[in-house]
Amino acid sequence: MKSSQRISHLTGGGSDGWDVFYRARRMKAAGQPVIELTIGEHDIRTAPDILAAMDAAARAGHTGYASVPGTDALRKAVATRIATRTGVATGPENILITPGGQAGLFAAAMATLDPGDRALFVDPYYVTYPGTLRAAGGVPVPVAARPEHAFQPQAADLAVVAPDARVLLVNSPNNPTGAVYDAATLADIAGVVTDHDLWLISDEVYDTQVWEGEHLSPRALPGMADRTLVVGSMSKSHAMTGSRIGWVCGPEEIIVEMINLATHTTYGVPGYIQDAATFALGQGETPEEAVAAPFRRRRAITARLVAGQNVVRAAPMQGAMYAMLDIRATGLSGEGFANALLDAERVAVMPGESFGAAAAGHVRVALTVDDAAFEDALGRLLRFAAARAGAVSPA
Ligand SMILES: Cc1ncc(COP(=O)(O)O)c(C=O)c1O
Repeated sequence: MKSSQRISHLTGGGSDGWDVFYRARRMKAAGQPVIELTIGEHDIRTAPDILAAMDAAARAGHTGYASVPGTDALRKAVATRIATRTGVATGPENILITPGGQAGLFAAAMATLDPGDRALFVDPYYVTYPGTLRAAGGVPVPVAARPEHAFQPQAADLAVVAPDARVLLVNSPNNPTGAVYDAATLADIAGVVTDHDLWLISDEVYDTQVWEGEHLSPRALPGMADRTLVVGSMSKSHAMTGSRIGWVCGPEEIIVEMINLATHTTYGVPGYIQDAATFALGQGETPEEAVAAPFRRRRAITARLVAGQNVVRAAPMQGAMYAMLDIRATGLSGEGFANALLDAERVAVMPGESFGAAAAGHVRVALTVDDAAFEDALGRLLRFAAARAGAVSPA
């Protein structure tokens, strides 16, 4: 029996640069001492007080169907968080609770795209973007954000593809590049989506991990609240990746329609998870800072080690739990470098190419192992790069 085209064409097919990741996993399973700096998963777990709140809620009986849009308390807590941090009036009616940011992205794509609509997204990109846009019937169109622009998308590049598009999907702080979009970039984005009457989907799941500058939500720019869907999540901010809890924030009319979609897809998020999330948001910024602190330290380690050599260059590490390293001086592609590094040093990093053509010649390093192991692994990466660069230098 044939599956639907929708599902069989979800991913583009062909090599996606993730082979090195699966190879590292196999080597580790076979007992080899591989240090994995690959995916965006914290090395700490959800805080005990959040787990206690989850346990108490479950034991209090919150194990039945929960209200599909989200509990009143959590929708209010998310709305308050957003209103406080962005200054944009936001109420519970603007919030749909979703099983993680990914489900929020999916719902946002479903809500804004008709079959055949062109959906712009910034390359390098989070790995699910093209498939998510395709799942909703959209035609994903990458717009390169280049290393020479510190991976900030340029208005001129967006303007070329915007006239035929329906949606622009952006992500700041950015996975995989670590870029935090500055006020000028966000003004350009707002200008393009307004001029061409696009929806903006703004993925802000790393909003608590900002090392340089500040997180600015494009929804706060003039006229943008009516055409922006913000996707948020507790995965990264509260180390709750496995709890699958996130949200979409947008105009009430489209949130109502997305609630209808949720009724026909997820049927909501477990009540005890929502209660734990409500508890966690009630603790304010302190636990968010505690979750972010290890990444801030490892970013400093990266800056120090990279400054001590001149082969590998780091893209500005402004936010999120990654460093994007330019390894072009080694003469290798990102994929070639990642594979050779894995074989030689048992250190696993992601090839830039797995996040799109604009990250070719780079590797993404996740700041997700303890400080000592991280420093050791990065040191090995830099020594390996120096040796390779020596091998290709003419002298
Ligand atoms: C940019 C970005 N958006 C969305 C997600 C999805 O996160 P979750 O579904 O765990 O909230 C991730 C996860 O790594 C991500 O990096």
